[in-house]
Amino acid sequence: MYSTDSTVAPDVTLKAIRSAFFDFVDDPFYVSAAQSVRYISDGLLVLENGYVKELGDYTTLAARYPDIPTTAYPNRLIMPGFVDIHIHFPQTEMIGAYGEQLLDWLNNYTFPIEAKFKDKDYADQLAKIFIDELLKNGTTTAMVLAAVFPESATAVFEEAQRRKMRMIVGKVMMDRNAPDFLVDTAQQSYDETKVLIQTWHKCDRLLYAVTPRFAITSTPDQLQAAGKLLEEFPDVYLHTHLSENQKEIELTAELFPGSTDYLNVYEQFGLLTERSIFAHCIHLSESEFERLSEARAAIAFCPTSNLFLGSGLFKIETAKSAQQPINVGLATDVGGGTSFSMLKTASEAYKVAQLRRQQLSPFKLLFLATLGAARSLMLDDKIGSFETGKEADFIVLDIQATPVMALRNPTATAQSLEELAEKLFATIILGDDRTIEATYVLGDLAYKKR
Ligand code: GUN
Ligand code: ZN
Repeated sequence: MYSTDSTVAPDVTLKAIRSAFFDFVDDPFYVSAAQSVRYISDGLLVLENGYVKELGDYTTLAARYPDIPTTAYPNRLIMPGFVDIHIHFPQTEMIGAYGEQLLDWLNNYTFPIEAKFKDKDYADQLAKIFIDELLKNGTTTAMVLAAVFPESATAVFEEAQRRKMRMIVGKVMMDRNAPDFLVDTAQQSYDETKVLIQTWHKCDRLLYAVTPRFAITSTPDQLQAAGKLLEEFPDVYLHTHLSENQKEIELTAELFPGSTDYLNVYEQFGLLTERSIFAHCIHLSESEFERLSEARAAIAFCPTSNLFLGSGLFKIETAKSAQQPINVGLATDVGGGTSFSMLKTASEAYKVAQLRRQQLSPFKLLFLATLGAARSLMLDDKIGSFETGKEADFIVLDIQATPVMALRNPTATAQSLEELAEKLFATIILGDDRTIEATYVLGDLAYKKR
């Protein structure tokens, strides 16, 4: 009940974190580092009930909040939590399966493992490990593919809800070209997805993605059902794979002879929208890039997976061209991807660009892993930076976490943007989960390195 008694403490908890901070205020692909990066070498982040109230210079803000309980992280660097826009929950236990490219890898390794997720107890057990691994690697939001079984999506939703995380999840829809034990039907996938949306979409910080696995494993009827769900629930996402592997592209063309290209399969069923996220996009034509840009859809750049499965080198400079910009976010694509670490993923993104004679600065790489990913998910009003009012998901980096990193970064705190760029680049190349000292979710400590 509302009280007019001025002695009653208002229902607000303020607290603060002192350290060095950096985040993005704009896209470093289109403006300079000075215009896109905010860096505060001695800062104070003021939090109110899990949201960002203010970030500024320590001396200025400390004077305005004299009694605020403050946690200090000296010699550390704090940035927004990583946002991984494409990861497969059931593939956690099969990272590093030897020797195959996409279609054989799916048939020989992936599908048998995904069958285990029919069992809710098993899915619950793995969901805990999966979320622990995300937080340990500094990932505070992910767009997640579950298995075909709705229980597997429920397991991730429940665990993410317990940790107060902003997560996007979808059960995969797949009604052909997979083993019998792993397929649904168009109607069943529609019905099960609908129940999941009604149960979980916008429940706390959770959101739903309608997830036809890829064109090969869906009949036209199922893709139509996916389109119908997007019409009925206009603010859910569409999440799938696109143009990852040459054999996949050839088989897709055979299965959908009426389509002009791969993207057109999805277009025909109303699946190309501004809330669509397409993973890989390695072999796109100019026209496909153009249509993705026009639709304001997003691409998940999955460098470790694209290398591991021998899929190819993503054309980041085409996707991020000024003339035809597309939203791109970085993604691990575990278990085609080889690490949960977005630092390692950024490191491989750099190397992929090198092979294409392109340079990705540390700021561009980390933009793709934070604010750029949040923009790809249309969540940049909620996560991805320390802007006032956003949800306070952030990570504490120890850029001297290993002996070699300490040699490479002999001082912990950069004194200029140039020095920050140098230190961040070394951290991307040498870093992994050991670099993540702590992860905060909605203003609270969710993981601390032992
Ligand atoms: N295409 C369809 N399913 C998958 C998957 O599980 N992983 C990857 N990398 N590509 C896919
Ligand atoms: Zn994938």
